[in-house]
Amino acid sequence: MNTPAIPTNDPELAPPPTGWIAHESCALPGPAATAALAQVVAELLRPGDSVLLQGQLGAGKSHFARAVIRALLGPDGQNTDIPSPSFTLVQSYDTPLAEVWHADLYRLSDPYEVIELGLDLAMEQAICLIEWPDRIAPDWPATAACLRLETPPQTPEMRIATLIALPGCELARRLAPAMVRP
Ligand SMILES: Nc1ncnc2c1ncn2[C@@H]1O[C@H](COP(=O)(O)OP(=O)(O)OP(=O)(O)O)[C@@H](O)[C@H]1O
Ligand SMILES: [Mg+2]
Repeated sequence: MNTPAIPTNDPELAPPPTGWIAHESCALPGPAATAALAQVVAELLRPGDSVLLQGQLGAGKSHFARAVIRALLGPDGQNTDIPSPSFTLVQSYDTPLAEVWHADLYRLSDPYEVIELGLDLAMEQAICLIEWPDRIAPDWPATAACLRLETPPQTPEMRIATLIALPGCELARRLAPAMVRP
């Protein structure tokens, strides 16, 4: 398996918790490429999976999450409004495969709120897409996979996506083929 170093071209972005390692990386030249990656990821997800979306403001976390949710909603997804969970912290969707929780922890005031929101329980049976997991670091769920989105300097539309997880993470192993972009 290709094991690139954790990217360091964004010094503002916190490193993942100790022990989490980079598994695969790919370049996403524009928003359409990020949505295409999301569609492939959606096909590989199963109930109980959590994907942590790490990246700066405007990195494309919500863009990625919306494309996953649309893909999981199926034909109805194209016409479904998928609001940002910035203020509500979580939005949930019923999809044929599983309930999907879209969370944005940016405004989390206390890590305990994750329990109040029911997100810890949702992680056991729903598919959870969680923006700003930095707010609950270093307590990232051990079975989750993190997709880190970085913008290389002077390339506003380019993102480098890196799959980060604990060694042996089953979800990361399942998602790794999605990172091989055409
Ligand atoms: N390669 C790319 N992938 C994803 N989004 C891109 C890309 N290039 C440009 N963009 C643009 O960047 C913006 C990303 O916005 P988005 O709301 O998804 O960011 P975010 O990471 O969720 O930010 P926040 O931390 O504020 O929630 C969108 O306007 C999108 O069109
Ligand atoms: Mg967002």
